[in-house]
Amino acid sequence: MAFSLASIRSDFPALHQEVHPGKKLVYLDSAATALKPQSVIDAVVSIYAQDCANVHRGVHALSQRATARVEAARDLVQHFIGAEAREEVVFTRGTTDAINLVAQTWGRANLKAGDEVLVAELDHHSNIVSWQLVCEATGATLKPIPMNDRGEVTVEAFEACLSDKTKVCAFPQVSNSLGTLLPIRQMIELAHSRGAITLVDGAQGIVHSRVNVQELGADFYTFSAHKLYGPTGIGVLYGKRALLEAMPPWQGGGDMIDRVRFEGSTYNDLPFKFEAGTPHIAGVVGLGAAIEYLNALDLDAALQHEADVHAYAIEALETVDGLTLLGKGARQASVLSFVLEGVHPTDAGSLLDARGIAIRTGHHCAQPVMDHFGITGTARASLAIYSGRDDIDALVDGLKRACRMLRR
Ligand code: ALA
Repeated sequence: MAFSLASIRSDFPALHQEVHPGKKLVYLDSAATALKPQSVIDAVVSIYAQDCANVHRGVHALSQRATARVEAARDLVQHFIGAEAREEVVFTRGTTDAINLVAQTWGRANLKAGDEVLVAELDHHSNIVSWQLVCEATGATLKPIPMNDRGEVTVEAFEACLSDKTKVCAFPQVSNSLGTLLPIRQMIELAHSRGAITLVDGAQGIVHSRVNVQELGADFYTFSAHKLYGPTGIGVLYGKRALLEAMPPWQGGGDMIDRVRFEGSTYNDLPFKFEAGTPHIAGVVGLGAAIEYLNALDLDAALQHEADVHAYAIEALETVDGLTLLGKGARQASVLSFVLEGVHPTDAGSLLDARGIAIRTGHHCAQPVMDHFGITGTARASLAIYSGRDDIDALVDGLKRACRMLRR
């Protein structure tokens, strides 16, 4: 199907609203969470309205229908990310939960004093603090991979951080605060050549590019459904089967067990070993619907459209007096992070909101990035497949007005 922005936009009901009287929504905060197409909303509703039952537990029809839909969603995820087996797809609460799972299971079982864990300076807090906690518990050392002033992590800078002490390299595919893409293929190869395992945080990456975990070769890959047009509170940990099998379980509860005795319990097979308790059934099914939605699009054309709007935005933002874009790497995704001379990002964000324009302001859960640039926060506009040049025009016009008002 040929790409049509109007048709895509008609799929997203939240786009068609006034947020303030007479002010139509201009949604430029998709890196925080993407809007949801109607088919995702319908899938979530249909779980509560029809197939409302617990999964993997019931002999009755509703439970079997709900179970079948959850496991069908697992297959959709498997194929969407190119995993070798469905058992390698573990449902989590999101990216943060998935990273914590690996840190608290693989990390606690394998790290010791003297070992080093590499994370990126440009990372968000999920991929820093999860590892910091396990380093504190095991005596391992957390080491940041530096970025340059363009917001890039170079292969050379990464290689210089590697040593025989490196046990884990965990880094994002795309920086959430700057939009820079990391050279993850080379980083994975280099890490493996030094015997370290790799975790790629795909929270911002999977939205803007096609991902094939087998081609990438990462040991773990994580993402959240809500940035991929799916529901909040659900995400995925992909892990290579051998690693997942060797890892101890994390949370205890229903579904993750095989046999429970007071003397000691045994655990279920993958992926259930890591899915304790009743899962977010509607969330999983909604994630499946989001993937079906993307599969039905000409995704390459949609991603190309998004990249075109991004290029247009970079040029358009340069016309705003005193605006400095951060994150000027050779390869950028659909995030535009900027500071405005003499204008606090929060004030700019509030004035834009009064015009119906939604952006995010602050440190974007990436305080070390702000420290690098000696600032407390940025204004961040972020795009999705439903974004258009008209959104950018509204943003630029709104920023010019805000600057005039705030610099008076
Ligand atoms: N990680 C999300 C963001 O970048 C919340 O806004």
